[in-house]
Amino acid sequence: MRFSIVALVAPLLLAGSALAGYNCKCQDFRGQFNEYTENCCNQSGNILNTYHGDQVHQCSNPFGGLDSGAFVQCCQRYGINDAFCWQ
Ligand SMILES: *[C@@H]1O[C@H](CO)[C@@H](O)[C@H](O)[C@H]1NC(C)=O
Repeated sequence: MRFSIVALVAPLLLAGSALAGYNCKCQDFRGQFNEYTENCCNQSGNILNTYHGDQVHQCSNPFGGLDSGAFVQCCQRYGINDAFCWQ
């Protein structure tokens, strides 16, 4: 019982760090496309995915829940060949 409460609360504490988690941005050989990153972030259907125009213009999810495959597909709908994702 006590363990399960710790398991639930621990990720919330980690979420405080701005660049923690998983990040993606729409980017190909031409460069990065901040508006598409923002649009794809908002359209991801996951309210935890947030666009950070104040950092490196990435879409990030503090729990690593960003679906990079879906993100690449979203960028491709805007004509960007690929996305750059990192942890
Ligand atoms: C994305 O969502 C954020 C937060 O709700 C909002 O401030 C922003 O304007 C939205 N961006 C787009 C491109 O819809």
